[in-house]
Amino acid sequence: DFPESSHFLHEAHNETTNGICRNVIHDMDAYGVCVVDNFLGDGQGKAVLSEVLDMSTKGVFKDGQLVSSNGRQDLKTIRGDQITWIDGREQHCTQIGKLISRVDAIIMRANKMYNNGKLGDYNINGRTKAMVACYPGSGSHYVKHVDNPNRDGRCITAIYYLNLHWDIKCSGGLLRIFPEGWTDKVADIEPLFDRLLFFWSDRRNPHEVQPAFHTRYAITLWYFDAREREDACRRYEKDRSSLKKK
Ligand code: OGA
Ligand code: OGA
Ligand code: MN
Repeated sequence: DFPESSHFLHEAHNETTNGICRNVIHDMDAYGVCVVDNFLGDGQGKAVLSEVLDMSTKGVFKDGQLVSSNGRQDLKTIRGDQITWIDGREQHCTQIGKLISRVDAIIMRANKMYNNGKLGDYNINGRTKAMVACYPGSGSHYVKHVDNPNRDGRCITAIYYLNLHWDIKCSGGLLRIFPEGWTDKVADIEPLFDRLLFFWSDRRNPHEVQPAFHTRYAITLWYFDAREREDACRRYEKDRSSLKKK
């Protein structure tokens, strides 16, 4: 059975990297979703938050995406977040850089530990930059979607949440996952401070961000499967060169 959310909650506090990896491997295999709480600890988590708040103050966040339906006047907001992409080596992002390295270490070790080097049959060899996202409150949300519906190479979504004193009843901003094959079950993930979430990025995990009424911050990394990414890049190159010929 798909478990209640608490079944895939793990406390990172005092856990070794290997301990966290074992949880990640087990839960991804069993549920396709894994939550690790207190991932960095209070001090380091707050240092990451402080860098994010500084960027927010400087105004580096830009609208995630606006999609117009049929060019009519009713611009429909699919996603109400504002984002910025971070490499982790920027001068003002050393703490975010450390977070990224820590998540990389978990993923790469879990990928090595599992089944002679496979995490869910993937061979993970890279990732995107970090997407820092801010939902500015006032009901901003992200409608139900799949991160990677068409085999673009992304296999695991990792999200680190930064929201202190988040009360789901008045703050909203719940992440709801609708795992494929479990029509009557959902996984509700509160975007709590120092919580790290993993899930398969493909059609197994449609999900939505419910309206947020307070400012909601998260940092997302997408990990690549070597083979799927290579195929996707080859397809992309082919499409590009056939466009050039026309
Ligand atoms: C996304 C997304 C979920 C969250 O950015 O694709 O689904 O909880 N974010 O922020
Ligand atoms: C799926 C899917 C998209 C959606 O379940 O395979 O693509 O919006 N869902 O639910
Ligand atoms: Mn998503």
